[in-house]
Amino acid sequence: GKTLVVAIDGPSGSGKSSVSKAVAKRLGLGFLDTGAMYRALTWHCINGQISFANAAAVEHAARSLNIDLSLTPEKDFVKVNGINVTGPIREPDISKAVSAVATNLGARAELVRRQQVLIAESGNRMVVEGRDITTVVAPQAEVRLILTASEEARMRRRGLQLGGTLSAAALEEQVLARDLKDSAVVDFQQAADGVFTVDSSELDFEQTVDAVLNVVRRAV
Ligand code: C5P
Repeated sequence: GKTLVVAIDGPSGSGKSSVSKAVAKRLGLGFLDTGAMYRALTWHCINGQISFANAAAVEHAARSLNIDLSLTPEKDFVKVNGINVTGPIREPDISKAVSAVATNLGARAELVRRQQVLIAESGNRMVVEGRDITTVVAPQAEVRLILTASEEARMRRRGLQLGGTLSAAALEEQVLARDLKDSAVVDFQQAADGVFTVDSSELDFEQTVDAVLNVVRRAV
C-alpha cells in the first residue's frame, strides 16, 4: 500500500500506547512502541549489572543488544537476547530507572537508528509512538501528533493501570518525576511546527482513537 507513517508523542498516562495500537489496527499499519526499547535496555543493564553511571558501558549495551519486539498491533512481546521480558519491563523498578538510560545520548542515537531501520523495513507503513518520534525519529512522517491529557486524567489512568495499589501521592511522584526527567532530554509536551495536538482529558478510549483517526484522515 501507500506509505503512511503516523508519529505519536506524549507523556506517560496519556493513553498513547493503547490508542496507537488501536489506530494501527484500524489502518492496517505496523506498530512500534519505542518506549519498550528503552525499557528493554534498562532491564538488560539491571539484569547484567551494568552501572547506569558508566555511560560507555550503557552505550555499548545498546549497540550489542538483540531487541526483538512485536511490530504488529495484534501481538505484544519484547525479547532481549532471546529472553522474553514482556512482563518484567512494565514493572515499577524499570519505570523508575528508565530515565537513566533515556538520558544516555549514545544509547539514544543507537535506539533512534534502529527505530528508523524498523520503520523503513515496514515499507514506511507504521504507527510509531514515543517521546521524540515527531521531532527526531520520524520528522518526515505523513502524520505527526502529540497526545496530551491533563495531569489529573493521566494520574487516574496510571492508577487504574497499576491496579490502584499505590497511594495518590506515590502515584503523582512516579508519573510526574518520570515526565520531569524525560523532558530534560526531549520536549514531548510541546507540539513542534506542523504537529497536531489531541487532548484526551475529556475523551474515553474510543473517542480518543476516533480523534486520532480524524487527524490522520485530514492530513492524508
Ligand atoms: O512510553 P514508555 O512510558 O513505555 O517509555 C518509557 C521511557 O522510555 C520514557 O519514560 C522515556 O524515558 C523513554 N523514552 C524515550 N524516548 C522515546 C520513548 C521512550 O526517551 N521515544
